[in-house]
Amino acid sequence: MSEGISKQLVLPKGSGFGVKNGALDKDAFRKVVTVLAAKVAPEKAGVLLKAPALKRSLIDVPKVKSVARGPDQDKLVLLKYSDQADLIEDAVQFLRSQAAELVPHELVFDYDYWSADDVIHAILPEELEEGAPSGFAVVGHIAHMNLRPEYLPYKHIIGQVVLDKNPSVRTVVNKLDNIVDQFRVFKMELLAGEPDFVVTQSENDCKFTFDFREVYWNSRLHHEHERLIEQFKTEDVIADVFAGVGPFAIPAAKKGCGVLANDLNPSSYKYLTVNISDNKVGSLVRPFCEDGREFIRQAFNRAWDDPLAPVPQRKQRRTELKEIRAGERPAPPVGPRRNRISHFVMNLPDTAILFLDAFRGVLSPAIAGERDLSGLYAEATMPMIHTHCFTRELEPEKAEADIRQRVEEKIGHPLGADTVYHWVRSVAPQKEMYCVSFRLPYAVAYAS
Ligand SMILES: C[S@@+](CC[C@H](N)C(=O)[O-])C[C@H]1O[C@@H](n2cnc3c(N)ncnc32)[C@H](O)[C@@H]1O
Repeated sequence: MSEGISKQLVLPKGSGFGVKNGALDKDAFRKVVTVLAAKVAPEKAGVLLKAPALKRSLIDVPKVKSVARGPDQDKLVLLKYSDQADLIEDAVQFLRSQAAELVPHELVFDYDYWSADDVIHAILPEELEEGAPSGFAVVGHIAHMNLRPEYLPYKHIIGQVVLDKNPSVRTVVNKLDNIVDQFRVFKMELLAGEPDFVVTQSENDCKFTFDFREVYWNSRLHHEHERLIEQFKTEDVIADVFAGVGPFAIPAAKKGCGVLANDLNPSSYKYLTVNISDNKVGSLVRPFCEDGREFIRQAFNRAWDDPLAPVPQRKQRRTELKEIRAGERPAPPVGPRRNRISHFVMNLPDTAILFLDAFRGVLSPAIAGERDLSGLYAEATMPMIHTHCFTRELEPEKAEADIRQRVEEKIGHPLGADTVYHWVRSVAPQKEMYCVSFRLPYAVAYAS
């Protein structure tokens, strides 16, 4: 017995098919296939679809409906064969018993029918077909790819296919290389779609807008952002040393934390301020644009000199507000302004450890001046420092030893036994990302 029309519905692979003058030739993907259809009165269509005798003869092609509209009021129940000789005898008998007339029916499969993988595998030459690019990441409306050099001659066609096959994508870019600048920004080129690089992306119930060409953003850090934010208490003050466009700072503020957020990249700073405003956390986040070392050194004094806003009050219900206005219920007490930093976040994994020496003596008179911060920052109330870093060590014990040694060298003090080494992700072969969290040692902060 024949397998039906499915075997006609494959595109050639690795044959350079569908490319004309170096561009995608969408017309080449159009295929017209004629199948047999059983023409019946509308009320009979369901009977045919359920009939055991027809079960193995009905059309079974993805994205093709089994019933089409026929002439007049009739319905066409589509079969998977083009040739009546392929139908089994049971099916023929059954169709006869239902007075179904067999007619030819044309099905058109055009460029829109095929999946992105079908098309990409068809257009590439044989030697590139295996290992053809299939994945891409999405930030807002931008799909970004990382094409290997051998696929670059096809980059615009591949980009066009990704654009055509993904309705929410408006722009497709290729990251030019793995080399990033001081601000961790990738160079990229437009492959297809609109040259619009300002995206809006949601994460942790916040909305972030930024120019993807100018700032750092990595959606794969979503869980790491969430993990640390979960550790912050509503009443905490957070100092985010390398804040980017705010994926730690803004959700923390939404939770009620007071935040000092810093980034040296002027574009990150610009979008950080946009995002603070868009997410309505202007009273809780203070943005800065300075070097991380300077920011660390000033943060304690800033929180002391100009404390952060109190924990926001729960929104009052309308009836509660009415009662408060009428003097029937006391207004909820406003908490104190907050002057003690509970957490530092340092997500610049390449070099964050090198900034840790900025904590040495940060509470000593040399930096704190006349301020007496000893009441706020005692052994047990020192801030937690969450430092992201890379290590080449793959085994957890070796990775921890490597990180501990580098941190201790920078702060000039041993780390406590309660230090947490959290594995974040594998970034590349032999490159693991961790977050080391430790309480700032008293002796380091007050070192003279
Ligand atoms: C890996 S990104 C992290 C951004 C954000 N915190 C996140 O989790 O997505 C590091 C950030 O540090 C900023 N940066 C790089 N060098 C800096 C420095 N010396 N001082 C302050 N910020 C810096 C970069 O502009 C970048 O936004």
